[in-house]
Amino acid sequence: MRQSSLVVIANRLPLDDSAAPDGACEWRRSPGGLASALHAILEQTPATWVGWGGGVGPAPALPDIGSLRLRPVPLTEDELRGYYEGFANSTLWPLYHDAVQQPTFDRGWWETYRTVNQRFAEAAAEVAEPGAAVWVQDYHLQLVPGMLRELRPDVMIGFFMHVPFPPPELYMQLPRRVELLRGMLGADLVGFQREQAAHNVAQLAVKLLGAEVAGDTITVDGRTVHTGAFPVSIDVTEMRALAARPDVVTQAEQLRDSLGRPKRVLLSVDRLDYTKGIEHRLTAYRELLRDGHVKVRDTVLVQVAVPSRERVESYRELKDRIEAEVGRINGEFGRVGEPAIHYLNQPFSRSQLAALYRTADVMVVTPLRDGMNLVAKEFVAAREDGAGALVLSEFTGAAAELAQAFLVNPHDVDGLKDTLLQAMETDPADLRARMSAMRQHLADHDILAWARAYLSALDHTGRLAESLP
Ligand code: ADP
Ligand code: F6P
Repeated sequence: MRQSSLVVIANRLPLDDSAAPDGACEWRRSPGGLASALHAILEQTPATWVGWGGGVGPAPALPDIGSLRLRPVPLTEDELRGYYEGFANSTLWPLYHDAVQQPTFDRGWWETYRTVNQRFAEAAAEVAEPGAAVWVQDYHLQLVPGMLRELRPDVMIGFFMHVPFPPPELYMQLPRRVELLRGMLGADLVGFQREQAAHNVAQLAVKLLGAEVAGDTITVDGRTVHTGAFPVSIDVTEMRALAARPDVVTQAEQLRDSLGRPKRVLLSVDRLDYTKGIEHRLTAYRELLRDGHVKVRDTVLVQVAVPSRERVESYRELKDRIEAEVGRINGEFGRVGEPAIHYLNQPFSRSQLAALYRTADVMVVTPLRDGMNLVAKEFVAAREDGAGALVLSEFTGAAAELAQAFLVNPHDVDGLKDTLLQAMETDPADLRARMSAMRQHLADHDILAWARAYLSALDHTGRLAESLP
């Protein structure tokens, strides 16, 4: 068994095993922020990534990606339901996102979640060389730090939560709250997108585990755990380069032609998820059309909603509601050859996304709660022309960094309508100044800076951070 000095464990591998229309197996880049963020740095780092390949049954053998080794973890059909669709995405996901959708507490899922976490911990224990650093990612694997410490007390263990960590009064609803907290605090360093999340964890550690807190350290079970905020980012260089590519510039022009060369293009790009505020956005847009503030002849909305967690009932119901609403809006306000909303329920390549970002006059990002939201950052990185407006929900991690966006509370539909109009009507020079400040921020805070900051905090010798490209 080949071992590595850096092991990353995430629910998903950066490649996804999705069936092509002809039924053949097709590997492509995984959807979602975590894979986008980590893929960018690890491709050029000697490391092993432990994760699920997206299918069920025995794990396939996978080739290395550059200097990155892949170690697939198999899941059975029952495990997929109990661990991924169940405990991770029907209990923890909604609860951690302010319970914007009612979490389901199904007692049968817990054992499966534990079993799968144990399997990930064992896989990491096998591929970590003596004294290695193991970096565990996200809410799917919250028990792994504690389990790994039992198996391999010699390794440094980091944990990073990509999603929000809820306030204590919400977390307290969680059955198994003690085991989950203790599992996560098995790490040496627990990182979050925002400082507030670290405060929430510290309060809970005192209350539930009798821990002692001093600054950013928690002493629990005789060990010291460090906590901190490390806002995740994107591969700014990659997105800039893509957006500047001549074929992408041409593609963006062609997109605008295909849209009928409207005066304004509004764009949204989300996983089809109830946390993303897609319905709030559609309501605001419908009312702008109804009130005559927006005319189909000169403005279009492009809504990209990539399929996500499609077997989970709440996601299927959301898809039905969104598609019905898009149909209603197009039926009521569209004209022949001129729909009010162009709805695309499909994955796109990175270059197609870059072309879409370039085409947009207003990027509309309205999550009800989001750990970070990398789409907002990708849009900014793609705008080397300095144009374009970003409407951004206050309830995203990105809002704390992109202060020059048009910040908005998506629950306030009137406020959302006003902000959309303001973004559409703001003077181009003002937009340019805002975009320039946001681009500067991103240039200084890209994905590499994030990984360096986290790994230097985990390993004070600096050795780990030096292994990054
Ligand atoms: P989340 O992690 O909740 O999915 P983020 O906005 O942080 O949300 O990250 C979403 C990631 O998925 C981004 O990197 C974005 O480019 C990618 N993505 C979104 N829509 C699509 C799509 N239709 N096709 C391919 N990738 C997509
Ligand atoms: O960012 C949160 C997250 O759950 C990531 O862990 C994941 O990459 C992304 O959303 C996409 O979700 P899924 O892996 O369920 O498709």
